[in-house]
Amino acid sequence: MVAAEFVVVANRLPVDRILTPDGEEIWRTSPGGLVAALEPMMRSVDGAWVGWAGQADLQIEPFEADGIRLLPVTLSEQEIQDYYEGFSNDTIWPLYHDVIAPPQYHREWWEAYVEVNRRFAEAAADAVAEGGTVWVHDYQLQLVPEMVRGLRPDVTIGYFHHIPFPSHGLYAQLPWRDQVLRGLLGADVIGFQRAQDAANFLAAAKRRLSHETKASSITLPDGRMPLVKAFPISIDTTPYRELAQRPDIRARALEIREGLGNPKHILLGVDRLDYTKGIRHRIKAYGELLDQGRISVEDVAFIQVASPSRERVDAYMHLRDEVELAIGRINGDHDTLGHTAIRYLHQGFPREEMVAMYLAADVMLVTALRDGMNLVAKEYVATRADNRGVLVLSEFTGAADELRQALRINPHDIEGVKDAIVGAIEMPRAEQSKRMRALRKRVLENDVDAWSQSFLRALEQAGRTRHRRHEG
Ligand code: G6P
Repeated sequence: MVAAEFVVVANRLPVDRILTPDGEEIWRTSPGGLVAALEPMMRSVDGAWVGWAGQADLQIEPFEADGIRLLPVTLSEQEIQDYYEGFSNDTIWPLYHDVIAPPQYHREWWEAYVEVNRRFAEAAADAVAEGGTVWVHDYQLQLVPEMVRGLRPDVTIGYFHHIPFPSHGLYAQLPWRDQVLRGLLGADVIGFQRAQDAANFLAAAKRRLSHETKASSITLPDGRMPLVKAFPISIDTTPYRELAQRPDIRARALEIREGLGNPKHILLGVDRLDYTKGIRHRIKAYGELLDQGRISVEDVAFIQVASPSRERVDAYMHLRDEVELAIGRINGDHDTLGHTAIRYLHQGFPREEMVAMYLAADVMLVTALRDGMNLVAKEYVATRADNRGVLVLSEFTGAADELRQALRINPHDIEGVKDAIVGAIEMPRAEQSKRMRALRKRVLENDVDAWSQSFLRALEQAGRTRHRRHEG
């Protein structure tokens, strides 16, 4: 196999293998923002992508999909339970999202995490060309940078962390806190979503490992100085803008409104069904507005898309029960034969249908309790070329640092959320348009291409500095 100049390492391949009930194999774009963010960049370089195909015990040879060379990593059923559902999504995920759910600490999970990280690191080390570049992604693979460095000291290594990095007070709970920091410090550039995440990481490295830190760099005992910096991720805005102009999709948006009984206002929530997203808080606020008669189901409909996610992890199963109980109660109390209060869709949808929903939505509700970035907020903005619609945005998202003209809320403050919903519904068109113009400017200028370019520029620079040090 030809060695690749550029290797992306992520838990998931950009496509998942799906076996249909009649035994047919299909490849479908993976869930999550990462794939959408990297795909455009990957097509334009001679690269390879190391990742998992989303199923247990799949032994597949490297293959090409949509012009990207894919190198599948095999995970056993036990490893999926311990490394993916366990350590990644029941230890790190809740801990890094400010312990919204209690993190579970199990030594077997940690051991599986180390083992699987080693497998990803070896695959990347085998694939990358002499002096090439490896870009590692996200919290499932925090040990990979150090492992790749051990195997291939000649390559330049980047790491981007897509989720929050917590304050030291919380991070310190992790029994393997020092090992994880050392794992990340194997990279030449360590990127975070927000300046606060980078600062939290630097503070942890300083406190725990006594490394000397400056504003955005850290000096390691071996003389290396990794760059630690915020690179806020974004979306590829082009497909959203294009789809939003398509007559059939615009017609579909009208049809969606009609299907809801032509309410005056449509509220929309779009999330993976995850406890970090504040779905319960949003439902509660909407339910209370109905209870109090501040809005009616005839006038204000609420669509909640909650795509299935991590369904075998306990905290996600409980969340689903709670969300569905709450929605059932509100609908039971307030539905009429002609109008439903909350149209709940526990499904994923193709992008075309998502854009139609964004176009139909007068108010977009992003009420996450903690979120690395939140790309849904940016997708909504990208579709609204008509400069209509209001984005209600939690201040606990990375997106809130950039999208200043959204209606900002604290999702824990239910009265505040209720007032923001009413404020959004009542917002005069001129103000909607003023805010949306400013939001669009920001999102269109800082798209995913700008993000990957700026990360890769930093990485290139780091690579040059490293080579000079080696030669000198
Ligand atoms: C978040 C994470 C991604 C992850 C995605 C979907 O966006 O940052 O790394 O891929 O969620 O979650 P899943 O567990 O299905 O990969």
